[in-house]
Amino acid sequence: MGPSTPAAARARVAFLLLAVVFLLAVPWPGAAAQAGYRVVSVARAGGQLSAGLELAGDGEKAELGPDVQRLSLTARQIFTVLPPGGRLETSSRLHVRITDADHPRWEVPQDVIPREAPRNVVLGASTGASPRSRVLSAATSDLTFTLHASPFRFTVSRRSTGDVLFDTAPSLDFKDRYLELTTALPAGRASLYGLGEHTKRTFRLQRNDTFTLWNADIAASNVDLNLYGSHPFYLDVRSAAPGAAGAGAGAAHGVLLLNSNGMDIEYGGSYLTYKVIGGVLDFYFFAGPAPLDVVDQYTQLIGRPAPMPYWSFGFHQCRYGYKNLADLEGVVAGYAKARIPLEVMWTDIDYMDAFKDFTLDPVNFPAGPMRQFVDRLHRNGQKYVVILDPGISVNETYGTFVRGMQQDVFLKRNGTNYLGKVWPGYVYFPDFLNPRAAKFWAQEVALFRRTLPVDGLWIDMNEISNFVDPPPLNALDDPPYRINNSGVRRPINNKTVPASTVHYGGVREYDAHNLYGFLEARATHGALLADTGRRPFVLSRSTFVGSGRYTAHWTGDNAATWDDLRYSINTMLSFGLFGIPMVGADICGFGGDTTEELCSRWIQLGAFYPFSRDHSAIGTVRRELYLWESVARSARKALGLRYRLLPYIYTLMHEAHTTGAPMARPLFFSYPKDVNTYGVDRQFLLGRGVLVSPVLEPGATTVDAYFPGGRWFSLFDYSLAAASATGTRVTLPAPADTVNVHVAGGNILPLQRPALTTSRARQTVFHLVVALGEDGSAAGELFLDDGESPEMAGPRGQWTLVRFSCKAEPGGATVRSHVVHDSYGPSRKLVVGKVVFLGLRSPAPPRGFAVYVNGVKAGNSTGRAQGFRGSGAVGAAQVEGLSLAVSKEFELKVVMS
Ligand SMILES: *[C@@H]1O[C@H](CO)[C@@H](O)[C@H](O)[C@H]1NC(C)=O
Ligand SMILES: *[C@@H]1O[C@H](CO)[C@@H](O)[C@H](O)[C@H]1NC(C)=O
Ligand SMILES: *[C@@H]1O[C@H](CO)[C@@H](O)[C@H](O)[C@H]1NC(C)=O
Ligand SMILES: *[C@@H]1O[C@H](CO)[C@@H](O)[C@H](O)[C@H]1NC(C)=O
Ligand SMILES: *[C@@H]1O[C@H](CO)[C@@H](O)[C@H](O)[C@H]1NC(C)=O
Ligand SMILES: *[C@@H]1O[C@H](CO)[C@@H](O)[C@H](O)[C@H]1NC(C)=O
Repeated sequence: MGPSTPAAARARVAFLLLAVVFLLAVPWPGAAAQAGYRVVSVARAGGQLSAGLELAGDGEKAELGPDVQRLSLTARQIFTVLPPGGRLETSSRLHVRITDADHPRWEVPQDVIPREAPRNVVLGASTGASPRSRVLSAATSDLTFTLHASPFRFTVSRRSTGDVLFDTAPSLDFKDRYLELTTALPAGRASLYGLGEHTKRTFRLQRNDTFTLWNADIAASNVDLNLYGSHPFYLDVRSAAPGAAGAGAGAAHGVLLLNSNGMDIEYGGSYLTYKVIGGVLDFYFFAGPAPLDVVDQYTQLIGRPAPMPYWSFGFHQCRYGYKNLADLEGVVAGYAKARIPLEVMWTDIDYMDAFKDFTLDPVNFPAGPMRQFVDRLHRNGQKYVVILDPGISVNETYGTFVRGMQQDVFLKRNGTNYLGKVWPGYVYFPDFLNPRAAKFWAQEVALFRRTLPVDGLWIDMNEISNFVDPPPLNALDDPPYRINNSGVRRPINNKTVPASTVHYGGVREYDAHNLYGFLEARATHGALLADTGRRPFVLSRSTFVGSGRYTAHWTGDNAATWDDLRYSINTMLSFGLFGIPMVGADICGFGGDTTEELCSRWIQLGAFYPFSRDHSAIGTVRRELYLWESVARSARKALGLRYRLLPYIYTLMHEAHTTGAPMARPLFFSYPKDVNTYGVDRQFLLGRGVLVSPVLEPGATTVDAYFPGGRWFSLFDYSLAAASATGTRVTLPAPADTVNVHVAGGNILPLQRPALTTSRARQTVFHLVVALGEDGSAAGELFLDDGESPEMAGPRGQWTLVRFSCKAEPGGATVRSHVVHDSYGPSRKLVVGKVVFLGLRSPAPPRGFAVYVNGVKAGNSTGRAQGFRGSGAVGAAQVEGLSLAVSKEFELKVVMS
């Protein structure tokens, strides 16, 4: 719903009248009688149910502080009416908020996540007859909210199946700095994903895992620790209810606790417990039922993912430890010589003068020659990105610092600017909650870009990382409940800005800590947009709910190990759920020395990360892809396919930006009814139907792949790799230079020719790969624009969207295009030159075939049939020499003879 998302900005929110009925309270399964709260009053207004709660009994856990005596609860179903036409969507979102009835509390600011505030309802005194339980439910909603009165608890269930999705225990704790709430889950039927940021051994959450959310500069090579970002969101996909004979299997929903305070979340398989050290209990439930619906509904609330420039889908090279400009030039030349695509050259903090932001090292990275270097990159269609850290060096001779002081933009503690220590030594940190800080940042970015016109910015260390360990100043610095910071319950002040630091408007770092990376990304995005007028590229290490509106993310400091290679898939898939689809891990591993084999396998996987960058740490062996011949071969092959797939990948960016759909997806997103997909995390999908099955172990020459039901064709040789009704496991050959990538029957992929830069690849003709499903149909789409206008598919922009569909007929197939929107294509000579049909059926291997374009026999196209075997054969046909304008609807028919 951010102002940057036009569709959401256009949306209005409306409420429907809801029925309120009484139900008999059902006791919580196995709950011991605990104090908690009881409902003393209930009111209904429009689509909102409001209730007053009062502490029952003497309260609990006195060591964590006194209980709040009176709470207020609101539950609302939210309907979105999208003009024009005012189509009333099914209510897909339920909002349940519990807070102190008598005192305002910290909540995630409206300008971080713009949202409808619950209405204030004056609740009368106790409503005489004690209410037992009430239901909030609307005919157009699949979510039903039930309030149970004494003791207080609530449930959320799915109307269509009766499945209980969320079921709180009566033992609610609500103290000033400790909130605890537990929900029951049907163990064995609920598969949960999300709750980041953590490096996990599996994508699906494991029973007894704990998830601590407190942004910290902890290396991603650490498993199960709180890392750089906080995303208290999970997606839950349910297998069939017992006795329901498959009814509801594969229905997914999402749950967000919109809270920026530190927290521990414990997942016990049959329950989930939130232990939060501040804020309010602000839950959003997203009805699904398809996994894609859940992320659509979620990103409608938190904001759609920012469009990324076309070039950012090229390959990126970085290293911490590039010595000087000659080093950078050598790397660019090395890629060119090896004929491996290189789109973007990066530099870590090495380029700065004494690690000061917006400066250049006058000896090793001097301004004049650096400018010429960047100009050369640009002439060659390449880009340049540098790092920035938030800390501004305290140095009276440093212009950025002086201007920051003049504009008074820094974080304060105990009445003065808070002094931290990072790479440049002592620093002050801009307070991005202060509107002056965003302005200051934009000025500095603009000034710097006059010296060096960098194409994007990489913001690091923004958890905030601090090299000193600040002693406590007041009680905020060491609250009564210690979250499991760093896995050993380290104080929340450890290696960051202390919680007693104060932001603009009196906001406490204690509350806003997890927002810093979000706020810096927003300021950096705004700074680039203002200065360039083009689509910004920002890469942020720290993120929060909604960061995808402004930034891409990399998984942070991983290590060059086979485990890190494997776990990168889990983090990538999690960020897809978090609305940050542009994500990848450091290819070949950041820390430690990589090996030739690991690096080779890593580029085979990393070529299919949405964000594909090789990066490494200072003092470790270099790992540019051309350094080993075997790695170079892998890179040419895997990146060659990535570059062919760029039109498809960019179309996925459009889908992500308009619907929140992750670019890299778990298999169950396309096959939610196939429970075998729920645990798959060694393979993933790009979009709906491109399956990547990488090698993740040393010494392997095969890979065991799971293929969900349907047909699967290799994207390298178009052979049929698997075909089954319900899913099958196949051991695939995976020689040293090969990654397995398959397309599912039913999909049409738009492709182009590979090249060493995306701009070159964009000049080639389009191909369509039409992979026919078992039912003889296939569909796909192609989105095109200039790749750098700020808006993607905006009302003022020039863009083209074409949908393709195909239907097999006896002896052939017909593919049709439908131009949905076309303000980009007409002025350009964009043509489809080749169409490959996979999965054509023929009673016998065909001798030849004829091609018809819009009903006219096309004489100048050539074609060949391949791979037809036996009677009733399934094979491929390639039609070349076509010149079908992308902007004009066409019908292409092949007839086999
Ligand atoms: C989870 O913890 C419970 C209680 O400590 C224990 O009984 C159970 O074995 C654990 N389960 C797993 C899978 O570790
Ligand atoms: C301030 O910056 C200048 C220029 O980089 C440097 O020479 C000087 O040592 C710095 N002073 C401090 C106190 O860091
Ligand atoms: C806080 O400020 C007061 C007054 O300036 C000072 O005496 C005190 O030492 C400061 N405390 C810390 C921890 O910096
Ligand atoms: C804290 O985190 C560590 C590391 O993940 C984990 O081993 C430990 O069980 C956690 N402690 C609690 C009490 O959750
Ligand atoms: C803070 O973290 C560092 C490691 O980053 C650790 O060595 C230190 O002991 C921690 N301090 C406290 C008070 O836990
Ligand atoms: C055949 O070539 C002509 C001239 O290049 C072109 O206009 C026409 O579209 C081509 N036919 C097909 C089927 O591509």
